[in-house]
Amino acid sequence: ETRAFLFTQKGVLTLKKTLLEVLQPFSPLPLDGNMIERPVHAHLGDLALPCFPFAKALRKSPIAIAEEIAAAVDHPLIHRAEAQSGYVNFFLERSVVTASLLHTILGQSSTYGSSDRGNGGVVTIDLSSPNIAKPFSMGHLRSTVIGNAIALLVEKCGYKPVKINYIGDWGTQFGKLLTAYRKWGNEAEVKKAPIATLLQLYIRFHEKAELDATLNDEARAAFKALEDGDSSARALWEWFKMESLKEFQRIYDLLGVTFDSYNGEAYYNDKMGPIIEELTEKGLLVESDGALVVELEDGLPPCLIKKSDGATLYATRDLTAALDRKTTYDFVKSLYVVGNEQSLHFTQFKKVLGKMGHAWSADIQHIPFGLLLKDGKKMSTRKGKIVLLEEVLNEAIALAQSTIETKNPDLANKKDVAQAIGVGAIIFSDLKQHRRHDIEFNLASMLQTEGETGPYVQYANARAHSVLRKAGSMRAFTVSEVNDFEWAVVKLLEQFPDAVKRAADELDSSIIAKYAVDVAQSFNSFYGNVQVLSDSEDQSYRLALVHCVTIVLEESLRLLGMKSPREM
Ligand code: ARG
Repeated sequence: ETRAFLFTQKGVLTLKKTLLEVLQPFSPLPLDGNMIERPVHAHLGDLALPCFPFAKALRKSPIAIAEEIAAAVDHPLIHRAEAQSGYVNFFLERSVVTASLLHTILGQSSTYGSSDRGNGGVVTIDLSSPNIAKPFSMGHLRSTVIGNAIALLVEKCGYKPVKINYIGDWGTQFGKLLTAYRKWGNEAEVKKAPIATLLQLYIRFHEKAELDATLNDEARAAFKALEDGDSSARALWEWFKMESLKEFQRIYDLLGVTFDSYNGEAYYNDKMGPIIEELTEKGLLVESDGALVVELEDGLPPCLIKKSDGATLYATRDLTAALDRKTTYDFVKSLYVVGNEQSLHFTQFKKVLGKMGHAWSADIQHIPFGLLLKDGKKMSTRKGKIVLLEEVLNEAIALAQSTIETKNPDLANKKDVAQAIGVGAIIFSDLKQHRRHDIEFNLASMLQTEGETGPYVQYANARAHSVLRKAGSMRAFTVSEVNDFEWAVVKLLEQFPDAVKRAADELDSSIIAKYAVDVAQSFNSFYGNVQVLSDSEDQSYRLALVHCVTIVLEESLRLLGMKSPREM
């Protein structure tokens, strides 16, 4: 019965909420969930209630109030309540909490921590969005990894994520590329190494155009032809696009990321008429040096909609895409996972939608992130010193594979495991810090099996699985005693739903990454100090605990977009 009391049928009542219900009858004033704290030090209890907020209304000192509550509380969940300097510190009945929690997690399995808070509302996520005929940059890698993890997180909370890869496949640069290809390109080379070859052509165009300005006129004409649907220009452009997407697809396959839509800039090129009309009708378009702009308040520079030569811009296409997304998906939230450097663009574009009277522009959110650094400098995939992302990913996989060869040469599916570890290491190192930070990219350190790394967490999970394998089948269990090592693990497992909720509220996957490290650490210290496989009666209960650790670790890793090999 205590179990039924502790946890509701559908979801888990968190310990904090449960304690709240227990305490209310003993409290002189209404309590709310935010009042209950989790003390950092175990000697201050498992949960604590600070009594300072009550002092004024009750005209008593917090110390006296804490003492009264501590003396009055009497409940099977609470082993002991201690008053200390204005706080009531609660030591919970470990075996009761543990039994209920483990049964809940085993019953819910991978749905543990899930909720239906989102009510099926659509969240569109603009992510990855590389530019064709250009290398997939480290910024696009971050966008892909961060956006994918956000999609998994909101899905866990009952929203419906729609992942949109807004490919950069339009703009005047394609006039330059067409011109360069016609002058200096050849088909076989492009086929062999599409992006590298197209990039070289593009660079060559710029070098030559410095000496011969007529090239720029040619490029403009070529882009005009492309815009007007000229079949030869169109065919080349389609081919460049297809070859680029094939290269990108190899990266997406390695990362294990899929998309719901690839509608990019070109898709919106012939759909901008209505928005320009709407802007005109609403009197928002102003002429400025022959161009059409929307003026903005708050010291923001105006948003450029149409250039003097009639060409539309990045912002024009983004406005069109935003309206289309609202019509198509009726999103409750629309996220754009794009680097810090585009913050001004997103502020402007959101303001323009607001001025047009679209109240839903408030649901648009730019999710900015910092740079990937190598030795403190921006990591670049451009120009001379190209670090191609695919090579970086493959290097990580190769390093993981060589570790396996020395540590566990008989492992089955070595290739798959190496990929899970290598790619997982890169994903984890990206997500473990808040995305706003610039992060130093160091393959060797992110692949360490010690410290706050992906492999460290994956290892803890694999170790837990090896214990379960050795033990064979699971049996029914009862919980009598819970030692400090076990209790530390239990308390963390209990916080998973809360970590998921906070991460989703803040769209911050680093909360999950850090949480996973905490679980892995506490599991490792439990494993190092407690004999799990023994003849004692506690074996069944401890195995259940280990099983729950694997459920929570695997679900945490999945939410980051990582795999969890059961053997490594
Ligand atoms: N293709 C752009 C770039 O590489 C990113 C596009 C981001 N998404 C958007 N809707 N503007 O910089």
